[in-house]
Amino acid sequence: MPTAATTLMLNDGRAMPQLGFGTWQIPADAAEGAVATALDLGYRLVDTAAIYGNEEGVGAALAAHRDVWLTTKIWNDSQGYDRTLRAMDKSLARLGRDQVDLVLIHWPCPDRGLYLETWRALVALRDAGKARSIGVSNFRSDELRAVSDATGVVPAVNQIELHPRFQQRDLRSIHAELGIVNQSWSPLGQGALLSDPAIAEIARQAGTTPAAVLLRWHLQHGLATIPKASSRSHMAANLAALDVMLSDEQMKRIDALDSPDGRIGPDPAQFG
Ligand SMILES: NC(=O)c1ccc[n+]([C@@H]2O[C@H](COP(=O)([O-])OP(=O)(O)OC[C@H]3O[C@@H](n4cnc5c(N)ncnc54)[C@H](OP(=O)(O)O)[C@@H]3O)[C@@H](O)[C@H]2O)c1
Repeated sequence: MPTAATTLMLNDGRAMPQLGFGTWQIPADAAEGAVATALDLGYRLVDTAAIYGNEEGVGAALAAHRDVWLTTKIWNDSQGYDRTLRAMDKSLARLGRDQVDLVLIHWPCPDRGLYLETWRALVALRDAGKARSIGVSNFRSDELRAVSDATGVVPAVNQIELHPRFQQRDLRSIHAELGIVNQSWSPLGQGALLSDPAIAEIARQAGTTPAAVLLRWHLQHGLATIPKASSRSHMAANLAALDVMLSDEQMKRIDALDSPDGRIGPDPAQFG
């Protein structure tokens, strides 16, 4: 059975916890307490971003926990080489540290035409020791290939919308081909999948909650993931995914929920 300390190996040789804690929509004044609760329960990875507006609280909660993986992201209006370097320094100041474990380009914003030079800045940030690993988010296959070909540095992670109604099978196979770890955002479909009848029935069979079933599906597919929760009870229910095991038949029933119109968030081709 995996634990909260179970890791996936990145293409840069570093080991990243597979299950972590997401903090989008956790308000600035609640972030320190929420992250402290998550750490108390055993979470070993925390995901934030400049745009979430909660880096100060997240950083405060992690101040005495430098062994916990911290990810942040460069927002769209900070793209470009110099702006990215400056944005990283501002994030580090808010987080109260001189290095993060992972920094991601939040969205490719293809219409801005800046993701390549933004990636070059991330390579420089890694070389300068300000980010131990570098990756991207919401990138599609052409963009993944473009940054890798231009720099010789393949992103360690692509953080993308992924849940049973939007399974991203084509992109997952590109990740496997290029050696990129897939980290699923909105793994619970922002809560919408918790009431899916098939998920509810599998939860009854397995003697657990729909949230644990959904997260277990990600883990058993070898995906990293970062569910967000506000309450201690939801955070604990999500960690319980580590203790259940789905049968092949149950996994296949969840695989069958994939839907062509299952996307919840923005389309990366247009966003930003
Ligand atoms: N890179 C990107 O572009 C991007 C985009 C979106 C998200 N993300 C990251 O991914 C993380 C997760 O995605 P998300 O926040 O969109 O959605 P999510 O994790 O799929 O779902 C969060 C929702 O589910 C509820 N929930 C969580 N655990 C529950 C449980 N055990 N029982 C019942 N309800 C539960 C939460 O309610 P409560 O809050 O009330 O507990 C919240 O409403 C974000 O926090 C962020 O770190 C990244």
